[in-house]
Amino acid sequence: MGLDTAQAGRTVQAETQEVPDSAFDHLTSLVDTLDEPIFCLDWRGRIVHYNDPAARLFGYAPSEILGKNVNTLVAQADHEPLGRAVDKSGSGAREDAKKNLAARAIRKDGTSFAAQIVLTASGLDEKAVISLLVRVPDAAQQKPAETRNATAYRRMIESLPGAVLLLNFELGIVFSNERTAALLGCDSLDQINGRKFLDFVSPSDRPRVIEDTGGASASEPVNGRYAIVRKDGSELQAEMTTTVVLDGAGSPRGLLAFVRIAPDDKLKPALMGTIGSISSIVKLKDPYVADHQERVTQLACAIAKEMGLPQETIDGIYVAGNLHDVGKLMIPGHILCKPGKLTQEEFTVVKNHIRIGLDVIQAVEFPWPVAQAIAQHHERIDGSGYPDGIEGNSMIIEARILAIADVVEAMSSHRPYRSGLGIEVALDEVTRVSADKFDPELAQCCANLFNKEKFFFS
Ligand SMILES: [Fe+2]
Repeated sequence: MGLDTAQAGRTVQAETQEVPDSAFDHLTSLVDTLDEPIFCLDWRGRIVHYNDPAARLFGYAPSEILGKNVNTLVAQADHEPLGRAVDKSGSGAREDAKKNLAARAIRKDGTSFAAQIVLTASGLDEKAVISLLVRVPDAAQQKPAETRNATAYRRMIESLPGAVLLLNFELGIVFSNERTAALLGCDSLDQINGRKFLDFVSPSDRPRVIEDTGGASASEPVNGRYAIVRKDGSELQAEMTTTVVLDGAGSPRGLLAFVRIAPDDKLKPALMGTIGSISSIVKLKDPYVADHQERVTQLACAIAKEMGLPQETIDGIYVAGNLHDVGKLMIPGHILCKPGKLTQEEFTVVKNHIRIGLDVIQAVEFPWPVAQAIAQHHERIDGSGYPDGIEGNSMIIEARILAIADVVEAMSSHRPYRSGLGIEVALDEVTRVSADKFDPELAQCCANLFNKEKFFFS
Protein backbone atom coordinates (compact mmCIF):
# COMPACT_ATOMS: atom_id res chain seq x y z
CA MET A 1 0.00 0.00 0.00
CA GLY A 2 3.02 2.23 0.35
CA LEU A 3 1.81 3.82 3.55
CA ASP A 4 3.78 6.32 5.48
CA THR A 5 3.34 5.10 9.03
CA ALA A 6 5.27 7.86 10.76
CA GLN A 7 2.88 9.86 12.88
CA ALA A 8 4.27 13.16 11.67
CA GLY A 9 3.49 12.09 8.12
CA ARG A 10 -0.13 11.42 8.97
CA THR A 11 -0.99 14.80 10.44
CA VAL A 12 -1.78 18.16 8.91
CA GLN A 13 -2.50 21.40 10.70
CA ALA A 14 -6.02 21.28 12.08
CA GLU A 15 -8.23 24.28 11.53
CA THR A 16 -9.24 24.51 15.12
CA GLN A 17 -8.12 28.04 15.88
CA GLU A 18 -8.78 27.77 19.58
CA VAL A 19 -6.89 24.57 20.36
CA PRO A 20 -3.30 24.87 21.52
CA ASP A 21 -0.82 22.81 19.50
CA SER A 22 0.28 20.86 22.57
CA ALA A 23 -3.29 19.71 23.27
CA PHE A 24 -3.72 18.67 19.66
CA ASP A 25 -0.43 16.73 19.76
CA HIS A 26 -1.53 15.03 22.94
CA LEU A 27 -4.79 13.95 21.34
CA THR A 28 -3.17 12.55 18.21
CA SER A 29 -0.56 10.62 20.14
CA LEU A 30 -3.35 9.14 22.25
CA VAL A 31 -5.23 8.15 19.10
CA ASP A 32 -2.06 6.44 17.86
CA THR A 33 -1.99 4.13 20.87
CA LEU A 34 -5.52 2.84 20.26
CA ASP A 35 -6.30 -0.43 18.52
CA GLU A 36 -9.35 0.75 16.64
CA PRO A 37 -9.33 2.64 13.32
CA ILE A 38 -9.65 6.34 14.18
CA PHE A 39 -9.53 9.53 12.11
CA CYS A 40 -9.27 13.01 13.63
CA LEU A 41 -11.29 15.70 11.92
CA ASP A 42 -11.31 19.43 12.30
CA TRP A 43 -14.60 21.22 12.84
CA ARG A 44 -15.13 21.55 9.10
CA GLY A 45 -14.91 17.79 8.65
CA ARG A 46 -11.42 17.73 7.13
CA ILE A 47 -9.23 14.72 7.99
CA VAL A 48 -6.24 16.03 9.94
CA HIS A 49 -4.82 12.84 11.41
CA TYR A 50 -5.35 9.07 11.44
CA ASN A 51 -3.80 6.07 13.15
CA ASP A 52 -2.25 2.80 11.93
CA PRO A 53 -5.42 0.66 12.13
CA ALA A 54 -7.21 3.32 10.02
CA ALA A 55 -4.34 3.30 7.51
CA ARG A 56 -4.53 -0.49 7.23
CA LEU A 57 -8.30 -0.54 6.90
CA PHE A 58 -8.64 2.13 4.19
CA GLY A 59 -5.32 1.82 2.33
CA TYR A 60 -4.63 5.54 1.82
CA ALA A 61 -1.21 7.19 1.82
CA PRO A 62 -1.12 10.44 3.79
CA SER A 63 -0.92 12.63 0.69
CA GLU A 64 -4.07 11.03 -0.67
CA ILE A 65 -6.32 11.57 2.32
CA LEU A 66 -5.05 14.31 4.66
CA GLY A 67 -6.92 17.53 4.22
CA LYS A 68 -9.75 15.75 2.37
CA ASN A 69 -13.32 15.91 3.57
CA VAL A 70 -14.47 13.01 5.74
CA ASN A 71 -17.04 12.12 3.10
CA THR A 72 -14.18 10.60 1.10
CA LEU A 73 -14.45 7.66 3.50
CA VAL A 74 -18.12 6.84 2.90
CA ALA A 75 -20.54 6.17 0.04
CA GLN A 76 -22.45 9.04 -1.59
CA ALA A 77 -25.67 8.08 0.18
CA ASP A 78 -24.02 8.64 3.55
CA HIS A 79 -22.53 12.07 2.81
CA GLU A 80 -25.48 14.04 4.10
CA PRO A 81 -26.03 12.18 7.44
CA LEU A 82 -22.30 12.09 8.14
CA GLY A 83 -21.99 15.82 7.35
CA ARG A 84 -24.84 16.57 9.75
CA ALA A 85 -23.25 14.44 12.47
CA VAL A 86 -19.92 16.25 12.04
CA ASP A 87 -21.67 19.62 12.23
CA LYS A 88 -23.40 18.62 15.42
CA SER A 89 -20.26 17.14 17.00
CA GLY A 90 -18.27 20.25 16.12
CA SER A 91 -20.88 22.65 17.40
CA GLY A 92 -19.71 22.30 20.95
CA ALA A 93 -22.95 20.73 22.17
CA ARG A 94 -20.92 18.22 24.11
CA GLU A 95 -23.71 16.33 25.80
CA ASP A 96 -25.10 15.38 22.41
CA ALA A 97 -21.76 15.31 20.75
CA LYS A 98 -21.37 11.55 20.59
CA LYS A 99 -22.96 10.33 17.37
CA ASN A 100 -23.31 6.83 16.16
CA LEU A 101 -24.34 6.01 12.62
CA ALA A 102 -24.26 3.10 10.24
CA ALA A 103 -22.61 3.85 6.90
CA ARG A 104 -21.08 2.21 3.85
CA ALA A 105 -17.35 2.82 4.13
CA ILE A 106 -15.28 3.04 0.93
CA ARG A 107 -11.64 2.03 0.77
CA LYS A 108 -9.06 3.60 -1.53
CA ASP A 109 -9.35 0.66 -3.94
CA GLY A 110 -13.10 1.22 -4.23
CA THR A 111 -14.17 -1.81 -2.21
CA SER A 112 -16.74 -1.08 0.47
CA PHE A 113 -17.96 -2.54 3.76
CA ALA A 114 -20.74 -1.96 6.24
CA ALA A 115 -19.35 0.10 9.10
CA GLN A 116 -20.50 1.67 12.26
CA ILE A 117 -19.15 5.16 12.74
CA VAL A 118 -18.83 6.81 16.11
CA LEU A 119 -18.11 10.53 16.26
CA THR A 120 -16.87 12.06 19.48
CA ALA A 121 -15.98 15.67 20.15
CA SER A 122 -12.53 15.79 21.69
CA GLY A 123 -13.63 18.13 24.43
CA LEU A 124 -10.55 20.29 23.88
CA ASP A 125 -12.59 23.34 23.09
CA GLU A 126 -15.49 24.51 20.99
CA LYS A 127 -14.98 23.96 17.28
CA ALA A 128 -12.25 21.57 18.22
CA VAL A 129 -11.09 18.25 16.91
CA ILE A 130 -13.55 15.44 16.43
CA SER A 131 -12.47 11.84 16.50
CA LEU A 132 -14.17 9.46 14.13
CA LEU A 133 -14.04 5.79 14.96
CA VAL A 134 -14.80 3.25 12.24
CA ARG A 135 -16.03 -0.17 13.23
CA VAL A 136 -16.33 -3.15 10.94
CA PRO A 137 -19.31 -5.29 11.87
CA ASP A 138 -18.38 -8.15 9.50
CA ALA A 139 -15.22 -8.87 11.42
CA ALA A 140 -17.21 -8.92 14.61
CA GLN A 141 -19.26 -11.86 13.47
CA GLN A 142 -16.37 -14.27 13.79
CA LYS A 143 -17.31 -16.16 16.88
CA PRO A 144 -14.71 -16.53 19.61
CA ALA A 145 -16.42 -19.86 20.32
CA GLU A 146 -14.86 -21.14 17.11
CA THR A 147 -11.50 -21.34 18.80
CA ARG A 148 -9.93 -24.61 19.90
CA ASN A 149 -10.79 -23.74 23.45
CA ALA A 150 -14.50 -23.40 22.80
CA THR A 151 -15.49 -25.74 25.62
CA ALA A 152 -13.18 -24.14 28.14
CA TYR A 153 -14.36 -20.72 27.00
CA ARG A 154 -18.02 -21.64 27.44
CA ARG A 155 -17.32 -23.16 30.85
CA MET A 156 -15.59 -20.00 31.96
CA ILE A 157 -18.47 -17.81 30.80
CA GLU A 158 -20.99 -20.12 32.45
CA SER A 159 -19.15 -19.88 35.75
CA LEU A 160 -19.32 -16.08 35.80
CA PRO A 161 -21.80 -14.71 38.33
CA GLY A 162 -24.06 -12.86 35.91
CA ALA A 163 -25.73 -12.75 32.52
CA VAL A 164 -23.04 -12.43 29.84
CA LEU A 165 -23.73 -11.82 26.17
CA LEU A 166 -21.38 -11.57 23.24
CA LEU A 167 -22.82 -9.26 20.59
CA ASN A 168 -21.68 -8.33 17.12
CA PHE A 169 -21.53 -4.64 16.27
CA GLU A 170 -25.06 -4.76 14.86
CA LEU A 171 -26.13 -5.91 18.34
CA GLY A 172 -26.95 -9.43 17.17
CA ILE A 173 -26.54 -11.98 19.97
CA VAL A 174 -23.69 -14.32 19.03
CA PHE A 175 -23.47 -16.06 22.38
CA SER A 176 -25.10 -15.92 25.80
CA ASN A 177 -24.82 -17.93 29.00
CA GLU A 178 -27.43 -19.82 30.99
CA ARG A 179 -27.88 -16.90 33.38
CA THR A 180 -29.03 -14.82 30.46
CA ALA A 181 -31.85 -17.33 29.92
CA ALA A 182 -32.86 -16.98 33.59
CA LEU A 183 -32.70 -13.18 33.41
CA LEU A 184 -34.81 -13.03 30.27
CA GLY A 185 -37.22 -15.74 31.44
CA CYS A 186 -36.40 -17.97 28.45
CA ASP A 187 -36.45 -21.77 28.61
CA SER A 188 -33.33 -22.24 26.50
CA LEU A 189 -30.54 -20.31 24.83
CA ASP A 190 -32.04 -21.18 21.42
CA GLN A 191 -34.64 -18.52 22.18
CA ILE A 192 -31.85 -15.94 22.62
CA ASN A 193 -28.76 -16.68 20.51
CA GLY A 194 -29.05 -15.41 16.95
CA ARG A 195 -31.66 -12.79 17.88
CA LYS A 196 -31.20 -9.05 18.10
CA PHE A 197 -30.40 -7.82 21.58
CA LEU A 198 -32.76 -4.91 21.02
CA ASP A 199 -35.66 -7.41 20.85
CA PHE A 200 -35.17 -7.75 24.61
CA VAL A 201 -35.02 -4.01 25.28
CA SER A 202 -38.04 -1.80 25.85
CA PRO A 203 -38.64 0.26 22.65
CA SER A 204 -38.19 3.54 24.53
CA ASP A 205 -34.68 2.52 25.66
CA ARG A 206 -33.46 1.13 22.33
CA PRO A 207 -31.92 4.40 21.01
CA ARG A 208 -29.95 4.75 24.24
CA VAL A 209 -28.63 1.18 23.99
CA ILE A 210 -27.48 1.86 20.40
CA GLU A 211 -25.80 5.11 21.38
CA ASP A 212 -24.16 3.77 24.56
CA THR A 213 -22.84 0.55 23.05
CA GLY A 214 -21.49 2.55 20.11
CA GLY A 215 -19.38 4.52 22.56
CA ALA A 216 -17.77 1.46 24.19
CA SER A 217 -14.15 0.62 23.60
CA ALA A 218 -11.76 -2.07 24.81
CA SER A 219 -10.21 0.26 27.34
CA GLU A 220 -13.34 2.13 28.40
CA PRO A 221 -16.45 0.07 29.13
CA VAL A 222 -19.75 1.93 29.15
CA ASN A 223 -22.46 1.52 31.75
CA GLY A 224 -26.15 1.99 31.16
CA ARG A 225 -29.46 1.22 32.75
CA TYR A 226 -32.29 -0.03 30.56
CA ALA A 227 -35.71 -1.65 30.77
CA ILE A 228 -35.29 -5.27 29.71
CA VAL A 229 -38.31 -7.08 28.28
CA ARG A 230 -38.59 -10.68 29.40
CA LYS A 231 -40.15 -13.49 27.39
CA ASP A 232 -43.45 -13.21 29.25
CA GLY A 233 -43.62 -9.49 28.43
CA SER A 234 -42.75 -8.30 31.94
CA GLU A 235 -40.06 -5.66 32.25
CA LEU A 236 -37.21 -5.37 34.69
CA GLN A 237 -34.66 -2.64 35.16
CA ALA A 238 -31.18 -3.86 34.34
CA GLU A 239 -27.71 -2.40 34.49
CA MET A 240 -25.40 -3.26 31.64
CA THR A 241 -21.65 -2.87 31.24
CA THR A 242 -20.42 -3.15 27.68
CA THR A 243 -16.87 -3.43 26.46
CA VAL A 244 -15.28 -4.07 23.08
CA VAL A 245 -13.63 -7.47 22.64
CA LEU A 246 -10.38 -7.56 20.68
CA ASP A 247 -8.92 -10.57 18.94
CA GLY A 248 -5.31 -11.73 19.37
CA ALA A 249 -4.17 -9.23 16.74
CA GLY A 250 -5.87 -6.39 18.59
CA SER A 251 -8.73 -5.93 16.11
CA PRO A 252 -12.24 -5.32 17.45
CA ARG A 253 -14.33 -8.48 17.28
CA GLY A 254 -17.54 -7.60 19.04
CA LEU A 255 -19.09 -6.42 22.26
CA LEU A 256 -19.15 -8.19 25.58
CA ALA A 257 -22.13 -7.20 27.70
CA PHE A 258 -22.55 -8.01 31.37
CA VAL A 259 -26.17 -7.55 32.46
CA ARG A 260 -27.56 -7.63 35.99
CA ILE A 261 -30.80 -6.62 37.64
CA ALA A 262 -30.76 -3.05 38.92
CA PRO A 263 -30.61 -3.09 42.74
CA ASP A 264 -33.82 -1.10 43.07
CA ASP A 265 -35.86 -2.97 40.47
CA LYS A 266 -39.46 -3.20 41.61
CA LEU A 267 -39.69 -6.83 40.57
CA LYS A 268 -37.38 -7.77 43.41
CA PRO A 269 -39.64 -6.97 46.40
CA ALA A 270 -42.48 -8.92 44.75
CA LEU A 271 -40.28 -11.96 44.23
CA MET A 272 -38.78 -11.74 47.70
CA GLY A 273 -42.36 -11.53 49.04
CA THR A 274 -43.18 -14.76 47.22
CA ILE A 275 -40.18 -16.43 48.83
CA GLY A 276 -41.33 -15.20 52.24
CA SER A 277 -44.79 -16.71 51.72
CA ILE A 278 -43.42 -20.07 50.62
CA SER A 279 -41.05 -20.09 53.62
CA SER A 280 -43.89 -19.50 56.07
CA ILE A 281 -45.86 -22.38 54.58
CA VAL A 282 -42.76 -24.59 54.94
CA LYS A 283 -42.47 -23.45 58.57
CA LEU A 284 -46.03 -24.57 59.33
CA LYS A 285 -45.49 -27.96 57.76
CA ASP A 286 -41.93 -28.69 58.93
CA PRO A 287 -40.17 -26.22 61.23
CA TYR A 288 -36.87 -28.13 60.97
CA VAL A 289 -36.70 -27.84 57.20
CA ALA A 290 -37.67 -24.16 57.49
CA ASP A 291 -34.97 -23.45 60.10
CA HIS A 292 -32.38 -25.35 58.08
CA GLN A 293 -33.20 -23.36 54.95
CA GLU A 294 -33.01 -20.06 56.83
CA ARG A 295 -29.65 -20.82 58.38
CA VAL A 296 -28.18 -22.25 55.17
CA THR A 297 -29.29 -19.04 53.46
CA GLN A 298 -27.60 -16.88 56.14
CA LEU A 299 -24.32 -18.73 55.77
CA ALA A 300 -24.43 -19.00 51.97
CA CYS A 301 -25.14 -15.27 51.56
CA ALA A 302 -22.33 -14.45 54.01
CA ILE A 303 -19.89 -16.57 51.98
CA ALA A 304 -21.03 -14.91 48.74
CA LYS A 305 -20.60 -11.48 50.28
CA GLU A 306 -17.20 -12.31 51.68
CA MET A 307 -16.14 -13.54 48.24
CA GLY A 308 -17.14 -10.16 46.81
CA LEU A 309 -19.80 -11.57 44.48
CA PRO A 310 -22.24 -9.08 42.94
CA GLN A 311 -25.45 -8.27 44.81
CA GLU A 312 -27.47 -9.93 42.07
CA THR A 313 -25.71 -13.26 42.69
CA ILE A 314 -26.27 -12.88 46.43
CA ASP A 315 -29.97 -12.25 45.76
CA GLY A 316 -30.12 -15.46 43.71
CA ILE A 317 -28.41 -17.39 46.52
CA TYR A 318 -30.88 -15.91 49.02
CA VAL A 319 -33.80 -17.18 46.97
CA ALA A 320 -32.27 -20.59 46.19
CA GLY A 321 -31.19 -21.05 49.83
CA ASN A 322 -34.68 -20.40 51.12
CA LEU A 323 -36.15 -22.93 48.72
CA HIS A 324 -33.43 -25.53 48.32
CA ASP A 325 -35.04 -28.23 50.44
CA VAL A 326 -38.68 -27.45 49.78
CA GLY A 327 -39.00 -30.89 48.15
CA LYS A 328 -38.35 -32.52 51.55
CA LEU A 329 -41.89 -31.65 52.59
CA MET A 330 -43.01 -34.58 50.45
CA ILE A 331 -40.53 -37.08 51.88
CA PRO A 332 -41.98 -39.28 54.64
CA GLY A 333 -40.89 -38.06 58.08
CA HIS A 334 -39.78 -41.48 59.29
CA ILE A 335 -37.17 -41.57 56.51
CA LEU A 336 -36.03 -37.94 56.90
CA CYS A 337 -35.69 -38.27 60.65
CA LYS A 338 -34.26 -41.78 60.75
CA PRO A 339 -31.38 -41.72 63.26
CA GLY A 340 -29.24 -44.46 61.72
CA LYS A 341 -27.94 -45.18 58.24
CA LEU A 342 -30.49 -45.12 55.41
CA THR A 343 -31.10 -48.21 53.30
CA GLN A 344 -30.48 -47.96 49.55
CA GLU A 345 -34.26 -47.63 48.92
CA GLU A 346 -34.65 -44.95 51.57
CA PHE A 347 -31.74 -42.98 50.15
CA THR A 348 -33.37 -43.12 46.70
CA VAL A 349 -36.51 -41.61 48.21
CA VAL A 350 -34.50 -38.84 49.95
CA LYS A 351 -32.66 -37.97 46.74
CA ASN A 352 -36.01 -37.41 45.13
CA HIS A 353 -36.46 -34.19 47.14
CA ILE A 354 -34.52 -32.38 44.44
CA ARG A 355 -36.89 -33.33 41.63
CA ILE A 356 -39.92 -32.52 43.80
CA GLY A 357 -38.42 -29.16 44.73
CA LEU A 358 -37.86 -28.31 41.08
CA ASP A 359 -41.48 -29.26 40.30
CA VAL A 360 -42.64 -26.86 43.01
CA ILE A 361 -40.66 -23.86 41.80
CA GLN A 362 -40.87 -24.42 38.05
CA ALA A 363 -43.91 -22.15 37.73
CA VAL A 364 -41.92 -19.14 38.95
CA GLU A 365 -39.66 -17.53 36.37
CA PHE A 366 -36.87 -16.20 38.54
CA PRO A 367 -34.36 -13.80 37.01
CA TRP A 368 -31.65 -15.80 38.82
CA PRO A 369 -30.52 -19.39 38.18
CA VAL A 370 -32.55 -20.67 41.15
CA ALA A 371 -33.61 -23.96 39.56
CA GLN A 372 -30.01 -24.76 38.59
CA ALA A 373 -28.75 -23.96 42.09
CA ILE A 374 -31.39 -26.18 43.71
CA ALA A 375 -30.78 -28.97 41.18
CA GLN A 376 -27.04 -28.94 41.94
CA HIS A 377 -26.87 -28.36 45.70
CA HIS A 378 -26.10 -32.04 46.41
CA GLU A 379 -23.55 -32.33 43.60
CA ARG A 380 -19.87 -32.44 44.55
CA ILE A 381 -16.96 -31.03 42.57
CA ASP A 382 -15.26 -34.46 42.39
CA GLY A 383 -18.36 -35.85 40.67
CA SER A 384 -19.49 -37.96 43.66
CA GLY A 385 -22.74 -36.06 44.30
CA TYR A 386 -26.30 -36.51 43.05
CA PRO A 387 -28.52 -36.44 41.03
CA ASP A 388 -26.27 -36.15 37.96
CA GLY A 389 -22.73 -36.60 39.28
CA ILE A 390 -21.49 -33.43 37.56
CA GLU A 391 -18.05 -32.02 38.39
CA GLY A 392 -16.05 -28.89 39.06
CA ASN A 393 -17.03 -25.76 37.25
CA SER A 394 -20.09 -27.45 35.76
CA MET A 395 -21.59 -26.65 39.15
CA ILE A 396 -22.62 -23.01 39.17
CA ILE A 397 -21.11 -20.93 41.94
CA GLU A 398 -24.47 -20.60 43.73
CA ALA A 399 -24.64 -24.40 44.02
CA ARG A 400 -20.99 -24.71 45.10
CA ILE A 401 -21.71 -22.24 47.91
CA LEU A 402 -25.01 -23.85 48.90
CA ALA A 403 -23.38 -27.29 49.03
CA ILE A 404 -20.90 -26.07 51.65
CA ALA A 405 -23.45 -24.09 53.68
CA ASP A 406 -25.85 -27.04 53.58
CA VAL A 407 -23.32 -29.52 54.97
CA VAL A 408 -21.91 -27.14 57.59
CA GLU A 409 -25.37 -26.23 58.86
CA ALA A 410 -26.65 -29.81 58.84
CA MET A 411 -23.63 -31.25 60.68
CA SER A 412 -23.38 -28.50 63.27
CA SER A 413 -27.08 -28.32 64.21
CA HIS A 414 -29.13 -30.41 66.55
CA ARG A 415 -31.94 -32.54 65.19
CA PRO A 416 -34.64 -34.36 67.20
CA TYR A 417 -33.00 -37.66 66.26
CA ARG A 418 -29.35 -36.70 66.89
CA SER A 419 -27.30 -34.01 68.54
CA GLY A 420 -25.19 -31.56 66.59
CA LEU A 421 -21.56 -32.43 65.91
CA GLY A 422 -20.40 -28.86 66.47
CA ILE A 423 -19.05 -26.24 64.12
CA GLU A 424 -15.40 -27.37 64.30
CA VAL A 425 -16.25 -30.85 63.06
CA ALA A 426 -18.46 -29.39 60.33
CA LEU A 427 -15.74 -27.00 59.11
CA ASP A 428 -13.15 -29.78 59.25
CA GLU A 429 -15.41 -31.85 56.99
CA VAL A 430 -15.55 -29.26 54.19
CA THR A 431 -11.94 -28.04 54.44
CA ARG A 432 -10.07 -31.31 55.17
CA VAL A 433 -11.90 -34.64 55.53
CA SER A 434 -13.89 -34.26 52.31
CA ALA A 435 -11.84 -31.41 50.84
CA ASP A 436 -11.96 -32.78 47.29
CA LYS A 437 -15.74 -32.65 47.27
CA PHE A 438 -16.00 -28.91 47.87
CA ASP A 439 -14.64 -25.80 46.20
CA PRO A 440 -11.49 -25.20 48.30
CA GLU A 441 -11.59 -21.40 48.09
CA LEU A 442 -15.23 -21.26 49.14
CA ALA A 443 -14.71 -23.82 51.91
CA GLN A 444 -11.80 -21.80 53.29
CA CYS A 445 -13.88 -18.64 53.08
CA CYS A 446 -16.61 -20.38 55.09
CA ALA A 447 -14.11 -21.46 57.77
CA ASN A 448 -12.69 -17.93 57.95
CA LEU A 449 -16.17 -16.51 58.47
CA PHE A 450 -16.56 -18.54 61.65
CA ASN A 451 -12.97 -18.37 62.88
CA LYS A 452 -11.96 -14.83 61.97
CA GLU A 453 -15.12 -12.87 61.19
CA LYS A 454 -17.07 -14.30 64.15
CA PHE A 455 -20.02 -15.37 62.04
CA PHE A 456 -22.78 -17.19 63.89
CA PHE A 457 -26.19 -18.54 62.97
CA SER A 458 -28.91 -16.31 64.38
FE1 LIG B 1 -31.09 -30.83 50.02
